[in-house]
Amino acid sequence: MLAREDPYWTSLTSGKRRMAWKLNEFLATGQREVVWALDSAKAFDLYPPSRALALDFGCGPGRLTGALAQSFDRVVGVDISPSMLDSARKNYASERISFAQSTRDIESGSVDLIYSTFVLQHFPKTALVTTFEEFARLLADGGLLIFQYPEEPRWTLPGIAFKALPTSFMNAAQRYIAGFPEAMPMNWMKPQKMITVTAQAGFGVCKSVSGPRYSPNWKDTWYLCAKEAGGR
Ligand SMILES: C[S@@+](CC[C@H](N)C(=O)[O-])C[C@H]1O[C@@H](n2cnc3c(N)ncnc32)[C@H](O)[C@@H]1O
Repeated sequence: MLAREDPYWTSLTSGKRRMAWKLNEFLATGQREVVWALDSAKAFDLYPPSRALALDFGCGPGRLTGALAQSFDRVVGVDISPSMLDSARKNYASERISFAQSTRDIESGSVDLIYSTFVLQHFPKTALVTTFEEFARLLADGGLLIFQYPEEPRWTLPGIAFKALPTSFMNAAQRYIAGFPEAMPMNWMKPQKMITVTAQAGFGVCKSVSGPRYSPNWKDTWYLCAKEAGGR
């Protein structure tokens, strides 16, 4: 429902009003973010040795997909929402970029980089380990998972409300006070805990760094997790 109304704002609210993103401005945020994230991977010496295939998991209308295609031979954007995929397909007509609704048909060990921003925070926390296990299945040895997850709400009025009030109340507030067409449930976790969750799914080295600041209300952390040779 959110994607049908405004796929861009649904992907990145970032203090914008609905229907206010210009496509080039929206895609430029993805460009800056991917350059920063891949530079961080290089700085940590975690940059994947092969750059044949990247997966943009929860790609939305493709804010990050095109930017990833500048560093990888092929990119597949996966999104559960058919409306998001329609929008992404309109934005990219390249043989090197494809889209799918699930990771099911992607061959094990075939992906060099999995990138996922502003997606896992909306999943129930109980679904994280199985999601990371699926990522571990997809990654080649030496492959890298980069994802963002909120560390905690900041001390702003909405941030304090997220800290203090139950999720059901915040979901209702998003719909009936903020006027969202549908709620976007939010989760957060401290980096120490998140690293133990990735370890449960078989990831070894996992670095956490603060990344680009998109929202005044959330402290976000980016994770760079390597798939070790012989890992799951
Ligand atoms: C907030 S948007 C972020 C889009 C994009 N990653 C970005 O940063 O611009 C979250 C996206 O995750 C997708 N999504 C949610 N659950 C998913 C799932 N189980 N599998 C794949 N995509 C999912 C949603 O449809 C939506 O497009």
